[in-house]
Amino acid sequence: MTDRSDIVEVVSSYVRLTKRSGANYFGLCPFHSEKTPSFSVSPDRQSYHCFGCGKGGDVIGFIMEIENLSFPEAVEFLAKRANMKLPEEVNDRESKKRTRMLALNRDAARWFYEQLHTPQAQIARAYMEKRRIGPATAKNFGLGYAPNNWRDLMDAMKAKGYTDQELFEAGLIRRRERSSYDTFRNRLMFPVIDVRGNVIGFSGRILDDGEPKYMNSPDTLVFDKGRNLFALNLAKKSKSGYIILSEGNIDVVSLHQAGFDSAVASLGTSLTGEQARLISRYTNEVIIAYDGDGAGIKASQRAIGILEKLDLKVRVLRMSGAKDPDELIRTKGPEAFRALLEASENQVDYRLRSIAAKYVLDSPEQKYEFLKEAYGVVARLPDQAQRDLYASRLAEQVGVKEDAVRGDIEKTRSQLIRRARTSETRASARAPDRPAAAQGRKLYFDDPRAAAAEQGLIRLLFLDAGCARGVTLPESVEFSSPELRHIYEALCERIERHAPVSLSLLRETLSSEEVDLLVRLDQEPVNLSNGGQAMADYISIIHDRYAERQAASAQKRASDDLMAMRDKYRATKAYK
Ligand code: CTP
Ligand code: MN
Repeated sequence: MTDRSDIVEVVSSYVRLTKRSGANYFGLCPFHSEKTPSFSVSPDRQSYHCFGCGKGGDVIGFIMEIENLSFPEAVEFLAKRANMKLPEEVNDRESKKRTRMLALNRDAARWFYEQLHTPQAQIARAYMEKRRIGPATAKNFGLGYAPNNWRDLMDAMKAKGYTDQELFEAGLIRRRERSSYDTFRNRLMFPVIDVRGNVIGFSGRILDDGEPKYMNSPDTLVFDKGRNLFALNLAKKSKSGYIILSEGNIDVVSLHQAGFDSAVASLGTSLTGEQARLISRYTNEVIIAYDGDGAGIKASQRAIGILEKLDLKVRVLRMSGAKDPDELIRTKGPEAFRALLEASENQVDYRLRSIAAKYVLDSPEQKYEFLKEAYGVVARLPDQAQRDLYASRLAEQVGVKEDAVRGDIEKTRSQLIRRARTSETRASARAPDRPAAAQGRKLYFDDPRAAAAEQGLIRLLFLDAGCARGVTLPESVEFSSPELRHIYEALCERIERHAPVSLSLLRETLSSEEVDLLVRLDQEPVNLSNGGQAMADYISIIHDRYAERQAASAQKRASDDLMAMRDKYRATKAYK
């Protein structure tokens, strides 16, 4: 496919290329602003390189960069472009629009940023000082100021060549009757930057107690509030090993400023499954640090459920001594937040504490009600040792015998299991064509260690086919599990011919059990930042286990042969 997408031809639809000397084409780099061309395209090597900003790669890389697409999306994009004439034009129009909108957002962010240093921005600078946001932090986040006028941004952007319609579609201006006016006025501006570094939208905070506190860009061609998180572009680089989820932009900014560089916030909506998935690409542990008020507690509980579904380890920070992370850091210092972070509870502790808060444990009835509810949480823990631990804590808490509590918990557990089983049987009886796998049947693998690595490799490849580049993948015969082998073959087949990889496309070749298995694998969190190392580890385990199984079966064959020979010998002897 790539050989049909000639890089010169592809790049030409974005950059005016001229052949100056030698074999290469030159043009103005689309990835940074420049006046003399330092962007070169080599038709022989089918690659591009910018001597100005250092960006370079093949045609797929170019499309990923300029269209802001993932590897499989870029491949699909190129395939469409190469194959179909009409959709190509539509696609082209759409993608040009995206590129323009991203450029407009970037220019607007730059403009807001510049405004922060004008005399009329005194009010914003004073506000930042009051909130203790320093200049380095402001720069790191690209904070800006939207002046208290109706058309300043509009005029500035129009002077740069953007049209009224483009500004409107990007959500930067609003329309009333025949006239347009700036969406953001007299607000502290937070650009929202995606993980690829594109400015995709804005949040603007009011500078006083007015309403609404935050105004966010509407959803646009490039902005979807439910699928992005504020500051994830910075947090993804954190070495902390976890992500801190807080509520407000100011909280995030002061957390980063205080050294907690893995803080993110959702953009005015409560946490969505999409956002949780996004987080799970970068970490397997989330610490929820919402405000300490009733709304914050309720939101935490919702978020726990969403994050747990993705097998993320969830801890909840118990906000005390301040209303939110920002206030805590400002009044008590970063160490105070660090202490809360370290004391943050796992979700079991957190749930048990929330349940306990509902009861006054001074009467037998209350104790009984409390325990009954608490058993519901503890009995679900898969680990016996953990259940015992909580049994003894609960026993102490209400002042009853530990054995009794432990017994009750185990009884509750068997009931839960029994109930789950019957509902499963009922469900499968009702829908005989739905295999048990759909309800989460666990597959049993002959070689669990090999299967774990096989699953890990599949997960990485499925998530990001790009990580297969430059890697020698194992042969599919080396896979121990037939199901996993089949999934792997389907994946590799697509990756090899640079075809897009997606569940719906793979459905064509996979059985429904295999699709279920893949879905389940895909839900497990992976840390892409060390994906390379993980991939190498998986591959070496697969090789090793394969070699071991081969050796074992060779040995078995040899001894089978011996047995056969012996039997034959015996038989001939007996017949003689
Ligand atoms: N919110 C929003 N849009 C954002 C960020 C937050 O609408 N981009 C909303 C959230 O939905 C939540 C509230 O604002 O209801 C969070 O407010 P808060 O935590 O108080 O925000 P901060 O930035 O911390 O503001 P401050 O501390 O100054 O009150
Ligand atoms: Mn706050």
